[in-house]
Amino acid sequence: MDHIPQHLAIIMDGNGRWAQKRHLPRIVGHQKGVETVRRVVEECCSLGIKHLTLYAFSSENWGRPADEVAALMGLLAKYLTSELKMLLSNRVRLNVIGETAKLPDNIRQTLEGAVERTRDNDSMTLTLALSYGARDEILRTCQQLAGRVAAGEIAPSDIDEELFSDALDTAGIPDPDLLVRTSGEMRISNFLLWQLAYTELYFSNKFWPDFDRDELHEAIREFGRRQRRFGLTSEQVPDKAEQGGHH
Ligand code: IPE
Ligand code: IPE
Ligand code: MG
Repeated sequence: MDHIPQHLAIIMDGNGRWAQKRHLPRIVGHQKGVETVRRVVEECCSLGIKHLTLYAFSSENWGRPADEVAALMGLLAKYLTSELKMLLSNRVRLNVIGETAKLPDNIRQTLEGAVERTRDNDSMTLTLALSYGARDEILRTCQQLAGRVAAGEIAPSDIDEELFSDALDTAGIPDPDLLVRTSGEMRISNFLLWQLAYTELYFSNKFWPDFDRDELHEAIREFGRRQRRFGLTSEQVPDKAEQGGHH
């Protein structure tokens, strides 16, 4: 693996089906999924990935049965407490995107605490997408920019790609190089619609609890075989050999 993505984004899908296949409650799949998160975070750190973004809870997931939503919130609170040590020892900075105002107070406070405790870490930024929907993010950004126009701070023509990107939840984070979705579904499900414009997409058939080191390595190897052209011709972009790795 000589081409490591600088920013890997993952749609962690298939926890429920993993459990249902075993005649277990869906929440058991979510519990197993937390173990995969731990493994993937640690592996991404050792691979030298600088940004890992995990889709953990979508704005649409609020519509699931109340007991599943409550169980997911409980798991999140537990994860943030139990994994803080691991994040600190791996020098991981925690970041959150999404409409966090909708999260229960105790979770928001735990999150803020963990973000604060890890803010000076520089090995990898782990961004959790929580209560996140890309359309919601884009609309909140438009409202914010429209407010700045109305206040006379900026002119409509000042709104270019850079200004817009800097007003999104993901401000300061480069666009993902590689997006992985597990569970065999081939859709984006309202994740990072703006940021994924030129991201390489990779779909794994494994359910998230079964997504292991080998699967992650295979996704990264496949990424290394792709030629990213960004709208140009093959001849215009540097050869794989000349491109060099990111680390
Ligand atoms: C992903 O697993 C976790 C969340 C969306 C919170 P799912 O819960 O979507 O599992 P499936 O897709 O129903 O199998
Ligand atoms: C996407 O998975 C959201 C997360 C992984 C958090 P979903 O299971 O909610 O997506 P759909 O409903 O299959 O599109
Ligand atoms: Mg799903």
